[in-house]
Amino acid sequence: MPHHRTLIDKHLEAWVSALPQGGLYAPMAYLMALPAKRVRPALVLMGCELFGGRTEDALDAALGIELFHNFTLMHDDIMDAAPLRRGQPTVHEKWNVNTAILSGDAMMVKSYQLMAKRPDVAAIFSRYALEVCEGQQLDMEFEERNDVGADEYMDMIRLKTAVLLACSLRVGAAIAGASTADSEHIGAFGEHIGLAFQLRDDLLDAFGDPIRTGKQQGGDLLAGKKTILLIRGLEQSASSGRSELQKELAKTPDQRDVAQMLRTLEELGVRDEAERAIQAEETKAMEALDAIEVPEDRKQPLRALSAQLMVRNY
Ligand code: IPE
Ligand code: IPE
Ligand code: MG
Ligand code: MG
Ligand code: MG
Repeated sequence: MPHHRTLIDKHLEAWVSALPQGGLYAPMAYLMALPAKRVRPALVLMGCELFGGRTEDALDAALGIELFHNFTLMHDDIMDAAPLRRGQPTVHEKWNVNTAILSGDAMMVKSYQLMAKRPDVAAIFSRYALEVCEGQQLDMEFEERNDVGADEYMDMIRLKTAVLLACSLRVGAAIAGASTADSEHIGAFGEHIGLAFQLRDDLLDAFGDPIRTGKQQGGDLLAGKKTILLIRGLEQSASSGRSELQKELAKTPDQRDVAQMLRTLEELGVRDEAERAIQAEETKAMEALDAIEVPEDRKQPLRALSAQLMVRNY
């Protein structure tokens, strides 16, 4: 991991410093340079090494995926009306919405330029990039609904988040020349750790420390996001005759009492339930990894990374 991190940081810093000054490029440089976990580029490199590929061959694709991820964040923050990202003002707050739209668009083009260097990589990437957009659209539609079920939620987060982790691994695997069967196994591993990743993200949004997460605490509850917590919270409230959550949701976002909503969610047991759902995805991820026929020591970095993600607090 530290080795991967150094490679990714160097490649990314060189890319940022070669950007033109100002205009569209300043918000790109700003967002890309803020402290981040760089999970997806690490997965590209690990997917490549797992199947015996050369790390250097995967660096451009790793950067391309991180750029795409940052593009989705720039637009996601507009959609979610988020004031903070990585502990700093979001691009639409620091500049304005139109700049965040255009700079994000330009970032997506730049990520495609990197991914298009190999047709096999471009094909995998296009498929999943489209699915991310589909997931984001469902996420927005769910805000307006009060009848979203847990299964629909899992499918939405699979699209908006999990597939990009799967994509990262499959791109790395393609660069190493992995077989179709291996590519599918590593994709399944990526989807399960990706589902766990978004469940954890939803828990951290509600119960995490904003100093660590760099995001506004309770931002999802304020925005009426149908995260697993709110979905299960509303279901449990209905069956136990409690009305606190509905009462808070009926208010305008700025009037909502987030602390009250968090207390209710805890009392209803939905926080613990989400923790168990994360565990279940982790178990499925490990089963998918076990099914891959490469020497165990090559799987070690992926096991270490998923263990880290299980206990992350940002
Ligand atoms: C945030 O991604 C968006 C989600 C899909 C949950 P990360 O949690 O990977 O954010 P950074 O890149 O480390 O800031
Ligand atoms: C983000 O989901 C998914 C994508 C950006 C595609 P969230 O909206 O939960 O991510 P954060 O919490 O703002 O990072
Ligand atoms: Mg968001
Ligand atoms: Mg969002
Ligand atoms: Mg979130």
